[in-house]
Amino acid sequence: MTVAKTVKMSNQGLAQPGDPCVIVIFGAAGDLTKRKLIPALYNLARNNLLPKEFAVVGVARAQMSTQDFRQKMSRDVHEFAPISIDAQLWDWLENRLCYLSGEFQDPNTYEQLQNLLAQIDQENGTRGNYLYYLATAPDFFCDIIWQLSNIGLTREENEQWRRFIIEKPFGHDLDSARALNKNISSVLKESQTYRIDHYLGKETVQNILVFRFGNGLFEPIWNHHYIDHVQITVAESVGVEGRGGYYEGAGALRDMVQNHMFQLLALIAMEPPLSFEADVVRDEKSKLLRAIQPLSAEDVLTHTVRGQYGSGTVRGSSVPAYRSEPRVAPDSCTETFVALKLMLDNWRWADVPFYLRTGKALGERVTEIAIQFKRVPSLLFRQTPIDQLTPNLLILRIQPNEGISLQFGAKIPGPTVHMGKVEMDFCYTDYFGTQSSTGYETLLYDCMIGDATLFQRADNVEVGWSVVTPILDVWKALPPRNFPNYAAGTWGPKEADDLLENDGRQWRRIDL
Ligand code: BG6
Repeated sequence: MTVAKTVKMSNQGLAQPGDPCVIVIFGAAGDLTKRKLIPALYNLARNNLLPKEFAVVGVARAQMSTQDFRQKMSRDVHEFAPISIDAQLWDWLENRLCYLSGEFQDPNTYEQLQNLLAQIDQENGTRGNYLYYLATAPDFFCDIIWQLSNIGLTREENEQWRRFIIEKPFGHDLDSARALNKNISSVLKESQTYRIDHYLGKETVQNILVFRFGNGLFEPIWNHHYIDHVQITVAESVGVEGRGGYYEGAGALRDMVQNHMFQLLALIAMEPPLSFEADVVRDEKSKLLRAIQPLSAEDVLTHTVRGQYGSGTVRGSSVPAYRSEPRVAPDSCTETFVALKLMLDNWRWADVPFYLRTGKALGERVTEIAIQFKRVPSLLFRQTPIDQLTPNLLILRIQPNEGISLQFGAKIPGPTVHMGKVEMDFCYTDYFGTQSSTGYETLLYDCMIGDATLFQRADNVEVGWSVVTPILDVWKALPPRNFPNYAAGTWGPKEADDLLENDGRQWRRIDL
């Protein structure tokens, strides 16, 4: 689509740096810190969104001095940051990095941390505001929070704030998520708790609400009168990438559906919130997720499909079967693919199926939401073959090639009336240039300014688990007999196609 005139909107000009603070990263020697968190902090510094009074303390078991940590982060940021690094700016950030080596269960670690934080507050003017980032294995979440609480480091007084970003996985079923929430809430207020879902840091995901509620055009037709069904696809071309140990106990339903895909579903289907205030938006999301029709054991058999990849070829490279990955059982029943049909029990979405699919080692890496509108009454086009009477399709491309496109029918030029499919396409990079972001910038910044809109509230997490837990229960009781049931590099098992074909529909063929 050509653009005659582009009005660029930017909030960077308006946004102020976050509050003076120290970010304490537990698990700082791990992948997340080097790949995402430090590059995201660098990007924030580049956009003048970090306060001058700022420091980062990395805490982990690995023995390292602050000097070693700085050197390591410097090497890593040059490798993983999505943009080239300005030496002066990096020096500024590097000089604010400290490291503390210690066991997460050892009270001594927290005493040392307390001393270090007091010293930083004094030297850097960080005012006792602490953002704790729990980038550890989930087994440590409660220990860390309790130890910090015991020593008084979670107490908010004298206008100081103490906030926690808690990484996934948040529980492994409804009971464990409830127990974790209960444990956390006995020490922290909900306003101190920021449960992260990195999908909400993606610009294109945040844009779903702006697209729906910032335009008068779509909302009137955003319901069962006009929409036939919705397909949400999160396809990954990678396998488990050495994370077999974690993935064996998780599987695609826990790893992707309960969190990331339900966030996409909530944003695409929720009612308009009265404002963009955190709790108002989160109320609407919870309401929507609560409207998902519970699946009976029988529904699980007919409305869900699970798969596991066997060996195959992804983009020309051969990929071993999931069962041959390190730390994966040779007879593993863990699903690497899920397809679901969900119905929403509310007025707006009566009888509109939402089909969700996600998988690893698929042919492409693509995340999109496709909204298929109802067909027109075909009276006028009796001569046109039915497959050419394509219904309107609106596609929100979350990644890659971020954008939105609308497909509609147009007359093919000529003396007779023949209809063809055409497409209007909006591409983010054409309009706004390339975004050099890790996806964590907004989330870190929002936590620094105390905006929890893009974080999950306790009830949001629990309602997600309450939908998937019955599925997990049935799957556990009936181990799959046909795994592996799709070859790496394909679009998943045949049963996933049958799921839609039984309803007279088809998955959208996604050609990148
Ligand atoms: C993570 C999952 O939460 O999301 C991974 O644990 C998955 O298994 C990843 O690969 C996908 O994220 P993205 O941003 O690459 O789509």
